[in-house]
Amino acid sequence: MEKLLIRGKKELNGEIVASGAKNSALPILAASLLADSPLKVSNLPHLNDITTMIELLGSMGLDIALSEDMDVLVDASTIKNLNARYELVKTMRASILVLGPLLTKFHRAKVALPGGCAIGSRPVNLHIQAMREMGADIVLENGYIKAKTKGRLKGANISLDPVSVGATENVLMAASLAEGLTTINNAAKEPEVVDLAECLKKMGAEIEGHGTDRIVINGVKTLLGCDFSVMPDRVETATYLTAVAMTGGKIKIKRARPNSVSSVVNKLREAGAVVESGEDWITLEMNNSRPKATSLSTGPYPSFPTDMQAQFIALNSIAEGTATVTENIFENRFTHVQEIARMGGKITLKGNTAIIEGIKSLIGAPVMATDLRASASLVLAGLVADGATEIDRIYHIDRGYERIEEKLNILGADIERIS
Ligand code: UD1
Repeated sequence: MEKLLIRGKKELNGEIVASGAKNSALPILAASLLADSPLKVSNLPHLNDITTMIELLGSMGLDIALSEDMDVLVDASTIKNLNARYELVKTMRASILVLGPLLTKFHRAKVALPGGCAIGSRPVNLHIQAMREMGADIVLENGYIKAKTKGRLKGANISLDPVSVGATENVLMAASLAEGLTTINNAAKEPEVVDLAECLKKMGAEIEGHGTDRIVINGVKTLLGCDFSVMPDRVETATYLTAVAMTGGKIKIKRARPNSVSSVVNKLREAGAVVESGEDWITLEMNNSRPKATSLSTGPYPSFPTDMQAQFIALNSIAEGTATVTENIFENRFTHVQEIARMGGKITLKGNTAIIEGIKSLIGAPVMATDLRASASLVLAGLVADGATEIDRIYHIDRGYERIEEKLNILGADIERIS
């Protein structure tokens, strides 16, 4: 199995280009199911999760053409079956995003229930409830969601509690082809939801209020394909900024979207970083080499993202002072804590809060990646540790960070993939 070997204590300096956003690309690829003509998606990141979504659509019979630069042309007119099989869904929970499109366009869907995952139970009850409110008849049988509807789904007044990114996206897609008006109350405001809504609008959907907590969709009869370029990945951008706040040095990230990372930038400034940005670039410079402890609580956008919590535990583990980090979105999202402790990190867990006492230096050790963002935090810890850190199970990282060792080496890190 492949591992990452990092020899730490190298200052990072230089420029990289942000990749396309995984969490925007996944729903947009699912939205290709809604169109009567091919949808062309560009700026797709080269990631395992994207391959899984393409494989899932391919397994339903969609015709998918891939250009060398990873632009993808998806033609849903060749669809042969309406099943999302367990073998694919279990490797990527975002497969649930095909439920709304299949139901609204083809009036039937069979989607495997995703089950648990490393960061918590992650139910899909809100997705199912919303589809029922739109008139779908749904049974859960043999580990599958079996859904059907007589004719078009009906517009409905849907309220999400708790706010859910995935459920908002599923309803957005379903409502775009439903009969009448749908309102999503307590909708997710994440930039990826806005990106999906913009893509759907380009396909002919009538949507208002995306980016606020009340989205109104007026269902139309048909949607057509279009050309759509997915937004830059804000979690990737924020992860590299945090890396340099830890190692010292200066980074410029090009083709980024700075306003999507404001909550993280505020915390990095609190830690002592100097951050500047233009329309599509952002720089971070660390004037004194050691960051200051920075406490935070995760929350739905525009609050601090849960997808950056692990990276900030890594930052705080070498910061000056003591910080508390509270996780409010996923209950078990602390598996990285034990691994960072193996590198000398002083972290205590109390319920959903980690108390991190910063130390001067971590020490390299063999560690294990347990989920996508947890593995990113181990990479950051390895970059600032004394000696070598070997990270096992890096397939988690390959789900969400495009060419991570290449990008870090460009910046001056010493990191290699070994088997
Ligand atoms: C998405 C992101 C993920 C990010 C998360 C929160 C994608 C592919 N993934 O995941 O990277 O960490 O948003 O920003 O975009 N919930 C329910 N019932 C449901 C659905 C969700 O109770 O039916 C709960 C979840 O357990 C969680 C909270 O709602 O506590 C938020 O989850 P949600 O926003 O749905 O996360 P995802 O869309 O799965």
